[in-house]
Amino acid sequence: MAVDAEQVPPLRIGQIDSAGARVYLNSCNACHRSDGTGAKRIFPSLAGNSAVNADDPTSLIHLVLSGSRMPSTATAPAPIAMPDFGWRLTNQQIADVLTFVRANWGNHASAVSVDQVAKVRQAVRQTEAAN
Ligand code: HEC
Repeated sequence: MAVDAEQVPPLRIGQIDSAGARVYLNSCNACHRSDGTGAKRIFPSLAGNSAVNADDPTSLIHLVLSGSRMPSTATAPAPIAMPDFGWRLTNQQIADVLTFVRANWGNHASAVSVDQVAKVRQAVRQTEAAN
């Protein structure tokens, strides 16, 4: 049977020869898994996710820089948060990993540039400085 590259999660078949895939393996894979599907009710799936595929990647970049925590409710406590990577990853690494995430597992969004990440990082810094 022929392998349909669109259907096979690239990390599972060992396609980790891109910079973005390497950042993903090191920083995101533990929670969102190698096929991008996450874990039900704990880690959101990145495959086919509208936040991931948004035309404008600003909020996506912001999320990776600053992290996020779902509000806890009585029936669904949310002890696990999306960590902030702004202190750990360079603008280049964030551009690479988001370009990777936006182009795999059936996602088809445009690449994220270093400039776009730099702009959001600057905006985040200004907000922090104002507080
Ligand atoms: C420790 C586990 C963990 C790691 C590591 C992690 N995430 Fe997350 N991620 C989460 C959790 C939990 C959420 C949900 C948070 C929320 O909704 O507030 C989330 C949410 C997201 C979302 C938003 C999805 C949506 O539907 O809004 C994206 C995109 C995302 N993560 C991408 C990444 C990327 C890219 C990396 C690596 C740079 C990464 N995550 C690393 C746990 C993790």
